[in-house]
Amino acid sequence: MNFKETSQYNLLKKHSVFLNGMSIKDLFSDNPKRFEEFSTSLGDIVFDYSKNQLDKKAMDFLIKMAESLDLKLKIRDMFDGVKINFTEKRAVLHTALRDNLTKSIKVDGINVIDDIKKNFDAMAEFVNDVRDGKFKGATGERILDVVNIGIGGSYLGAKMAIEALKPYKTPLINFHFISNIDGTDISEVLKKIEPETTLFVVASKTFTTDETMTNANSAKKWLVEKLGEKAVKNHFCALSTNKKLAGEFGIPEIQVFPFGDYVGGRYSMWGTIGLPICMAIGVDNFKKFLGGANLADEHFRNTDFDKNIPVLMALVSIWNINFLETVAEAVLPYDNYLKYLPLYLQQLVMESNGKSVDKNGNPIKYQTSPIIFGDEGTNGQHSFYQLLHQGTEKILCDFIIPVFSHNEIGEHQLKLLANGIAQTEALMKGKTKAEAEEELRGQGMSDAEIKKLLPYKEFTGNRPSNTFLIKRITPETLGMLVAFYEHKTFVEGVFWDINSFDQFGVELGKQLAKNIVRDLKSDEIITSHDSSTNGLINMVKTLREDM
Ligand code: F6P
Repeated sequence: MNFKETSQYNLLKKHSVFLNGMSIKDLFSDNPKRFEEFSTSLGDIVFDYSKNQLDKKAMDFLIKMAESLDLKLKIRDMFDGVKINFTEKRAVLHTALRDNLTKSIKVDGINVIDDIKKNFDAMAEFVNDVRDGKFKGATGERILDVVNIGIGGSYLGAKMAIEALKPYKTPLINFHFISNIDGTDISEVLKKIEPETTLFVVASKTFTTDETMTNANSAKKWLVEKLGEKAVKNHFCALSTNKKLAGEFGIPEIQVFPFGDYVGGRYSMWGTIGLPICMAIGVDNFKKFLGGANLADEHFRNTDFDKNIPVLMALVSIWNINFLETVAEAVLPYDNYLKYLPLYLQQLVMESNGKSVDKNGNPIKYQTSPIIFGDEGTNGQHSFYQLLHQGTEKILCDFIIPVFSHNEIGEHQLKLLANGIAQTEALMKGKTKAEAEEELRGQGMSDAEIKKLLPYKEFTGNRPSNTFLIKRITPETLGMLVAFYEHKTFVEGVFWDINSFDQFGVELGKQLAKNIVRDLKSDEIITSHDSSTNGLINMVKTLREDM
């Protein structure tokens, strides 16, 4: 069943017509306690969703809808290891990676908790050895550079979290990332490192992803040319579910850090795919990162929906997407260290919920995943915020605002905070014609000039936003925040009746690229595709002929 099939749908649809006639500003004037009533908190994170065009009645309907969709039961199924990723016949247990208390979760009769503990301990020991200089390169030198070779879920989490937690990072090791198959990516990293002091971390759940394996093989070639074949074992480790292929690559078994197939790629940084994060911030801080996520998990499992942050996040999104027809959501962190969070959430949300077939195999006739984009504030303010304020589309904005910076200098942080909060107010309030006119008059403009400019100076306002006020970005709060988004994505999947945990959509391009590699290598003129694809392939071949 999807949200449209619940008994609440028509009632809520009717109520949305009424709310469409109200502005968020009116809703605030009508209720002086709106902030208190439409915000909630957990630990050091406050979630304020009051600047949305919704009221208590709409929230009550949405909560009832969640109940009609058996959300509580579905949450339990996920945590209990039911194979909810039914298209791939897999359980979805990234939450177990950060659970320190549960003693047993069985999948196919096997207790995954034992495996998770074993994998974590092996990873932690290796991390400590590298950080302490006990693990040495082939020439006896300590590791100074760690290069993560991986893409998608085997890249974005480590990249985002290492940047987000830079204040906690060891100064003794530099971290680099090679993800793209574009030779520039690897070339630029290789220019910065020395083989004797480098550890390559091949991060790939499958150990078959073309980009990753092409990069890993090029890195291996570079290393072998300088230090010889024997050095591979001292300079490579693997994070993968595929021990066999990692072994065939030349990585000793003891340096292959596995994880179960009940962990999806985009949900995997909490386990061994998080090894670079653990190496950067240390085992204790990594445990705090997991602890933060676990706190969010327990909150998600046990809190009533009207105070449950990930559930509320999802309800607000569903409301905006499916009742007010917004198509995009912006992630706007007001912290330089969170600059990769929008990229990370793009994969989490769009790879999970960018689906158009429901769980019964039927085409879907309502909107599912929003388009996610964003950038750190205040940079975004000077580029795409124009569209947020005056564009034809309304975008739901998530403002992520840490109260304290790790770099408090003069008034920088106060100004940053003021900017973030001001944006939420500006989007909601807008500027009326009368206000704009008064402002222009104050600048000494003539009536004729004012008449001409006025339409451009008006802001309709009434644009939705959520604000996460976070005391400070720490391993705990980052863990909580990301887990909130994971669970929000899950809840949305329940409303839309889709499997949020497969990603078949990425396959077709991969398959076709293989054929085109073959075509690019052949001496024949290519005629087997449409005329554009043939034309492009043949033109590339002609242009590369002189190489
Ligand atoms: O983009 C598809 C995908 O399968 C992602 O879900 C995954 O995170 C990424 O490719 C990398 O896959 P792997 O870890 O197997 O190399």
